[in-house]
Amino acid sequence: MLEKIKQHIAEVEAFTANTKEDVENFRIKYLGKKGLLNDFFAEFKNVSNEQKKEFGQVVNKLKNTAEEKVELLKDALENKEEAKGVYGDLSRPGEPIEIGSRHPISIVKNKIIDIFSRIGFNVSEGPEIEDDWHNFTALNLPEYHPARDMQDTFFIQTNPDVLLRTHTSSVQVRYMENNKPPIRTISPGRVYRNEAISARSHCFFHQVEGLYVDKGVSFADLKQTLQYFTTEMFGKSKIRLRPSYFPFTEPSAEVDVYWGLETETDYKMTKGTGWLEIMGCGMVDPNVLENCGIDSEEYSGFAFGMGIDRIALLLHQIPDIRMFSENDIRFLEQFKSSL
Ligand code: PHE
Repeated sequence: MLEKIKQHIAEVEAFTANTKEDVENFRIKYLGKKGLLNDFFAEFKNVSNEQKKEFGQVVNKLKNTAEEKVELLKDALENKEEAKGVYGDLSRPGEPIEIGSRHPISIVKNKIIDIFSRIGFNVSEGPEIEDDWHNFTALNLPEYHPARDMQDTFFIQTNPDVLLRTHTSSVQVRYMENNKPPIRTISPGRVYRNEAISARSHCFFHQVEGLYVDKGVSFADLKQTLQYFTTEMFGKSKIRLRPSYFPFTEPSAEVDVYWGLETETDYKMTKGTGWLEIMGCGMVDPNVLENCGIDSEEYSGFAFGMGIDRIALLLHQIPDIRMFSENDIRFLEQFKSSL
């Protein structure tokens, strides 16, 4: 009898099951009302007194082993089912995937890059920490030039000056130093100016500047290029150029695009004039070409520069420039673009 029970213990220990049914049948076989254990317990009274102790121990062991086995198998099968819940039904529609959105500054920047790349402009980049030569001196802004005050500069170090670039014209200097004409390049990037932060201005913002240098580049080429740009960017082809001043271009102009005055928004955007100022431009000053190792007798060029933040603010009627750098997901997720 003892041997028989011990065999059962070994059997119970070795038992495995694939389904809940198997486990239930196993439970009934050993632990059910009419199960083997009850039979063995009923047998107890027939066992001789000397054997009772050992018999009791072995039957108890069988009971514990069977009970533990049932719990173990149940748990294992439940875990298996949970796992199956995730991967089980392969025909089930997938969980929706949250796709991020591009930052509005990037959307506008990419659109500008796309428009100029279609007429042969490449993209050039440069460092945000600049030296005096690339940000000022090479651009016809020698030391003590009053126009340096036009751009409130963050200095990192003086003598020699190291600063945060105030415009991406510095990239154009680097590009001219390292490339021979014909040059057609646009330089997008972040720039810094020591200005009081408000809804309209920030101490950092973003620019795209453009440069075209070749033989016989004229002001007419500049105007055509700008007109192509405003048509592609805003769907507006009427522009006007107002005389202006930049140390690195001569002549220089401010570019306005005619937005129209049809809606209340047009009225607000253009302060009632219908015109929107979008960028500065001009013919590259011969001094700048010479500073960068380009023969100004042989070559001429035009340059332009615009603020990406300003254009993004206008296009999306965003009330405060600080929203661009607050990283509020509720603001950012409103902008969707394929570019
Ligand atoms: N660098 C000028 C600015 O930051 C913009 C500009 C670029 C003007 C090129 C003319 C030509 O304001």
